[in-house]
Formats: sequence, structure tokens, C-alpha cells
Amino acid sequence: MGGLRASCKPLECLIILLLLFNRVVCSKGPQDPDRKTPARSKSSQRQWNWNLLLNNTGVVAMHMAVTHHNKVVIFDQTDAGPSQYRFRKCKTRGGSGESACYAHSVEYNVLKNKVRALHLTTDTWCSSGSFLSNGTLLQTGGNGSGSKKIRYYKPCKSNACDWTELKREMFVRRWYASSLYLPKENSVIVVGGQSAFSYEFVPKTSSKPYDLPFLHRTFERNSKGNNLYPILHLSNNGLLFIFANRDSILFDYKKRKVVKKFPKIPGNGARSYPSTGSSVILPLDNNDNFSKVEVMVCGGAARGSYAAAQRRRYLTGLRSCGRMTITGNRHRWRMENMPGPRIMSDMLILPTGDILIINGAKRGCAGWGTASDPALEPYLYKPNRMPGKRFQILKKTKIARLYHSSAVLLPDGRILVAGGNPNHRYIMHGVTHPTELRLQALTPDYMSERFDHLRPKDVKVIYPRKAHGVENGHIFNVSFSLGTETGNLSVVAYAPPFATHSLSMNQRMVRLECLGWESGDGHDRFQASVVAPPSIYVAPPGYYMLTVVNGGVPSRSSWLRIL
Ligand SMILES: *[C@@H]1O[C@H](CO)[C@@H](O)[C@H](O)[C@H]1NC(C)=O
Ligand SMILES: *[C@@H]1O[C@H](CO)[C@@H](O)[C@H](O)[C@H]1NC(C)=O
Ligand SMILES: *[C@@H]1O[C@H](CO)[C@@H](O)[C@H](O)[C@H]1NC(C)=O
Ligand SMILES: *[C@@H]1O[C@H](CO)[C@@H](O)[C@H](O)[C@H]1NC(C)=O
Ligand SMILES: *[C@@H]1O[C@H](CO)[C@@H](O)[C@H](O)[C@H]1NC(C)=O
Ligand SMILES: *[C@@H]1O[C@H](CO)[C@@H](O)[C@H](O)[C@H]1NC(C)=O
Repeated sequence: MGGLRASCKPLECLIILLLLFNRVVCSKGPQDPDRKTPARSKSSQRQWNWNLLLNNTGVVAMHMAVTHHNKVVIFDQTDAGPSQYRFRKCKTRGGSGESACYAHSVEYNVLKNKVRALHLTTDTWCSSGSFLSNGTLLQTGGNGSGSKKIRYYKPCKSNACDWTELKREMFVRRWYASSLYLPKENSVIVVGGQSAFSYEFVPKTSSKPYDLPFLHRTFERNSKGNNLYPILHLSNNGLLFIFANRDSILFDYKKRKVVKKFPKIPGNGARSYPSTGSSVILPLDNNDNFSKVEVMVCGGAARGSYAAAQRRRYLTGLRSCGRMTITGNRHRWRMENMPGPRIMSDMLILPTGDILIINGAKRGCAGWGTASDPALEPYLYKPNRMPGKRFQILKKTKIARLYHSSAVLLPDGRILVAGGNPNHRYIMHGVTHPTELRLQALTPDYMSERFDHLRPKDVKVIYPRKAHGVENGHIFNVSFSLGTETGNLSVVAYAPPFATHSLSMNQRMVRLECLGWESGDGHDRFQASVVAPPSIYVAPPGYYMLTVVNGGVPSRSSWLRIL
């Protein structure tokens, strides 16, 4: 095998390996277990199940992120008064005034289904975050005391880790700013924020923040900006896609130059805070050498929503999604409609390559009490189907997830859903939409038992000898068990996002090249040789959830570290 690989190009290898091991085939693209039997679509909808995990997380999940220790760090603002998690002893740490006796952040242990309190001192209200390549969460900004703050959360296996808040601060206040990890610099760019028409780097690599005229241009005075929490994606060449309001640019942060201006997204309304829509980049694929990067933006608020909501009139949200390829030379938003209008949703990329649109409301906009009609049905979007056949409506939840709610994908394949608080403080009764502290999981149909015969199990990542990760462009192995029924296999890696305000900062999925598969000692044990994407801009160094997908049915994921 080793000699074979060394002596041939990957494609030749693949062909030879296909001949040698024709029981298992490396896939050419995403699989869809329902595609062959469309009649299943109805039944598969029933297979998406909602489970209540906890009645009280104590703290509103305004922000949420999954760490590579399979725990979820959750936090709210510190200035919302008492939370529902009171410390046994009143600490001096943990916010100001009455707020100091209460937790404003918790860590959720997925396996134990329990939360433990963490300690935050400065206000994290509407802040941003990015995982660094070593798995530490770099968290930035907030309001008041926290608006220029830089914080670290270094995840741990034990229960010993907690927040570190640095003395060193950012240049300007970053409230409603977005952040993105920059692999070349191993730093983070923080963009925008209330009254902050600029960007800066953390740790600092310049002596001042840089003005970003695009943020002035997209600012809509009577709508609280409509360009806060700009959408950021890292393109495959290191340029930044920045979207705010209805406009977007390709930005070279090194030269501080706008490289491209993209067309305005159609639709009669904005997509950025407080007209909050959401966005993903569709999975990047080794089949085109990761050369195509396609952005998708969904939902948003109707024009005038913010002003109308101040008068308690809640306008119907936008129903449209736009898809645009940001690589190449031709850029056009291709529009399609969701099954219903939607604002403040979260968009997550699932291991199948499908996009989940979840949480939010049908009318109004983001803000305190500015939305109505919770959007209780998640949508599933299958990007590779024919237009018109891509959306599926999933099972309804009973729990409204409005402003300050979030959702993240767990390594086991479920979606963790939490938070929601359209009130200034924790108000549990007597309002239309009380503070929501229940924690739910949405269990996708791909986890159902009827697909167990297809599911790869017990996935292990095997690095080259002595290594504790794999470098970009290098080969590593993945071993797994597969029962008698084998189909098309693909291997995907998912960078877990920092979720807040309908943004999933740094979320991306890459479909990896597999050179071939070999059956191991056991009859059902396989070993695959897989290539980490060659470019740091395709797959920035960091921790990824690695999933083996067989005929559209994903395994549980295992953590992959790209060095
Ligand atoms: C949540 O509370 C309800 C009502 O008290 C109870 O029936 C249910 O078992 C609780 N669920 C969990 C997961 O604790
Ligand atoms: C990761 O890097 C950051 C920034 O250099 C550092 O503060 C942190 O301690 C590192 N984390 C780990 C787990 O080594
Ligand atoms: C949050 O920031 C705004 C704008 O700077 C300020 O008016 C307000 O007082 C701040 N809120 C708190 C709780 O610090
Ligand atoms: C595997 O995928 C290829 C291309 O996507 C398809 O032609 C073939 O029918 C699939 N085979 C199985 C067993 O699903
Ligand atoms: C990786 O897997 C290939 C088969 O796909 C095998 O030949 C090779 O020995 C494996 N390498 C390691 C380090 O396990
Ligand atoms: C794939 O893209 C990388 C850059 O990301 C480039 O170095 C490489 O030559 C490309 N490979 C092919 C076969 O085009």
C-alpha cells in the first residue's frame, strides 16, 4: 500500500484501490439516503425528534460553542441582573451589583447532561468569538465594562477550566461586532460593532484600528444600522467575504483593499442586525480541489421593520435565500424561497452536507420584544437537489427561540438548541415570551435506528507516527467499523462555530479527499487514507469534527486536529 501510494498520483491510486477493494467505494459527492426512495421523505420528517435535555440551564444561551472536549460553553450578558443559577457562596467575581451572586456562563457536559458554572466579570453582551488553532476560544467585546475586553476560554477535560479576562484591551468598543480566525497570522480579526466602522486584530498586529468604509456605506440610520454583526467568511484564497445590510465585498485585509464588490442581494429588506438573517458557506469539496466557494444567505427583516416594531407592529420577515459563488468571475445571487418567512434563525451545516435552518421568528426584527410569531419548524435545505425540491419542513418544537437563542451541532450528530430572551432581564412569568432556559436536542433522522446498518461506527483518527495532528496537505488515516451493507463513503471535517445572534462565526465544512480504503484485521473494520486540505485557507489549523458518511448516513464524529 505505502509503496503504491508513493508511486502513483492520487487518482491512479483511487482507481487501483477501487479495483482492489471494490467492496467499499470512495464517494464522488454528497449522498442522500432519501434520494433513491423519495417516498421516504414524509416518513423521514417524522424521524426528526425533539428532546428536552434540561429544564434549566441557569443562563441564557446568547452565545454557544462546542469545544474539542465535547463540552459546550454557554454564556449570556452579565448585566441582565440575577440569572437562574445562584452561586452557593456569593462571589466578588461574576458581574456587578446584584448580578455578582449569579453565574452568567456555564459549561454543558454533553455526556453527563449537566451544567457547571463559570465566572465572567465584564459584560459579554452581544460579543464575538473564534477558536484559535490550539482549541482555545478567543472571545472579544461586549458592552459597558466588557466592550473592549479580550477573554480566553481554554477548554479542558476536567472541570477546572474557566474564563480568563485579559488586562490588555482592544482599540475600540466592539458591541455587535463579528470575529473570524485568520490562519496565516494565527490571530483573529474583529469587524464592526455599534458606532465602530472599523476592524482590528487580536492579538494586535497594528498600532491602530483600520477604518472600513464599507461599514459607513451600509449603515442605515433609522434602522439601528442594519449592518451590525456583519457576516464574515474566509474564502479559499485568504480573502474575506464581508456582508452587511444587503451588500457584500471581497476584502484583502493585508493590503486593506476591497478586491470585489458583489451585487446587492435582492429582496425588500436587509439581512444584518437588527434585520438579522443568517448565512453559511456551502461545504468545500476536494472534487473541485476546493476551488469553488459558495455563500448562502437566508431570511432577514422587511424594510422598515425596526421602526414598525417600536410601534408594536411586526412586519412579515423575508422568505428568500440567496446563493452566490464568490470565487471565479461571475457573481449573481440566485434566489429561492424558504417554506416561510424567517428572521433570527441559525444556519448549521450538517455532516450530510445539508443545511439546517432553525430558531427565530416569522415577523419583526431582532431586539428586545421586537419580534412575534416564533418560527417553530426547522427547515432542512439540500443544496444539491433541483431548485424547488431543496427545502423540507421538519417537526415543530413547542419552545419559542427568539432573540438571544442559539443552536450548535454536537459531535454525536444531534443539534443542541438553547436560549432565547427578548426581555431586558430574566423574566420567567407574565410576559408573552418569557426568558427561555430549557435545553433541547433535535435528533436528526440520519441518527435513526433504521439507518444503523449503513452507519460507520467507532471512528478513530490515526495520525502519522508520533504526531498529535496532521498538517495541511498531509495524509492521515481514519479507521471505522462498517456492517455488511456498504455503500458510498465520504469523509467530512467540520469546524465548529461560535454561535450568537444567528451568526455561526468560523463555521465551515470540507469534504476530504480519500485515497482509498483497506479492510483491517476484523471483517468489518476499515482503514481509510485521507488527505487534509492543502491550503490553510480551505481548512485553517484547528480542531474539526471528523465524520465518515456512508450512503448519506453519518457516523458520530471524532476530533481531528489540523496543525
Ligand atoms: C422538566 O419539568 C417538567 C415539569 O416539571 C418535568 O415533567 C420534566 O420531567 C422535566 N424534564 C427534565 C429533563 O428535567
Ligand atoms: C492557545 O494559544 C493562546 C494564544 O497564544 C494561548 O493564550 C493559550 O494558552 C493556548 N492554549 C493552549 C491550550 O495551549
Ligand atoms: C451599553 O452601551 C450603550 C452604548 O454605549 C450604553 O448607552 C449603555 O449604557 C450600555 N449598557 C450598559 C448596561 O452598560
Ligand atoms: C455511489 O455514488 C455514485 C456517484 O455519486 C453513484 O453513481 C452510485 O450509484 C453510488 N453507489 C451506491 C452503492 O450508492
Ligand atoms: C493508513 O491506511 C493505509 C490503508 O488505507 C495503510 O496502508 C497504512 O499502513 C495506514 N497507515 C497508518 C499509519 O496506520
Ligand atoms: C489544488 O489547489 C492548491 C491550492 O489550494 C494548489 O496548490 C494545487 O496545485 C491544486 N491542485 C490541482 C490538481 O489543481
